[in-house]
Amino acid sequence: MIITSERISLKHLLTAESLNDQEVMALIKRAQQLKKGESPELKKKQYFVANLFFENSTRTHKSFEIAEKKLGIDVIEFDAKASSVSKGESLYDTVLTMAAIGVHACVIRHTEEEYYNQLIQSKTITTSIINSGDGSGNHPTQCLLDLLTIYEEFGTFENLNIAICGDLTHSRVANSNMKMLRRLGANLYFCGPDEWYNQKYEAYGEFLPIDTIVSKVDVMMMLRVQHERHAGEELFSKEKYHDEYGLTNERAETMAPRSIIMHPAPVNRDVELSSDLVESYQSRITEQMTNGVFMRMAILEAILHGKA
Ligand code: CP
Repeated sequence: MIITSERISLKHLLTAESLNDQEVMALIKRAQQLKKGESPELKKKQYFVANLFFENSTRTHKSFEIAEKKLGIDVIEFDAKASSVSKGESLYDTVLTMAAIGVHACVIRHTEEEYYNQLIQSKTITTSIINSGDGSGNHPTQCLLDLLTIYEEFGTFENLNIAICGDLTHSRVANSNMKMLRRLGANLYFCGPDEWYNQKYEAYGEFLPIDTIVSKVDVMMMLRVQHERHAGEELFSKEKYHDEYGLTNERAETMAPRSIIMHPAPVNRDVELSSDLVESYQSRITEQMTNGVFMRMAILEAILHGKA
């Protein structure tokens, strides 16, 4: 894969797979440059970006905020509970308002899958949409920061062996990552309970027990068990899940020395991943968080570049 440093312009970022390979690699390259300390390139003096989080977030919300401040953007914070959403205002009307008052881009996380369709079809809403998670649908900015983390480590995606393990059904991270990693040439494997596996994943990789794959992969990508999407029905105790499907200390000891552990976080410690492994030498979890800032800077530049 040839990396280009060409600047790209994006109208919206709704799904990772809407980007072509060249756009993905240009964002990775730009995030690396920003991480090395290169100056941001925004053409106008003043840009307004609103962060609209209708689902809780620590990493995505706060790393967007830091990315925006590093780029010199005026950040419009939004608390759904303190806004007119509490009076019944719809998402459409909130974003329509943001566009009308001069917001250039909205970073949105919402429980509804593909919430963005109505917004991008509007003739009145001119603001760009950056999807920061739509229910169990997509999480393109997490996917791109994960791609940056893997690329930094291995310098390629081609023929890497990557296991995506855990709550596949409810994970927007898995949904975005499986499509992109396969397209970029990685060999994918899936692990986890049968109940959270779907045959549609066969298009991307093979479903195997964790014990058959843990010693053979370059990346163990562990997923959070998404209790909030299980409607109060827990299939496993924490201990049973950890023993049968989690990355335990014993399993981690069998990993190849140059292989890495990833997790989008927040981590359910000692459920999908042993607490001891979160900051272990093979873990890249804090690097993923750090990379989130630089990848989100690169994304914001590409979005706002299109508005210059
Ligand atoms: N990985 C991730 O999206 O974390 P937050 O839910 O804290 O944003």
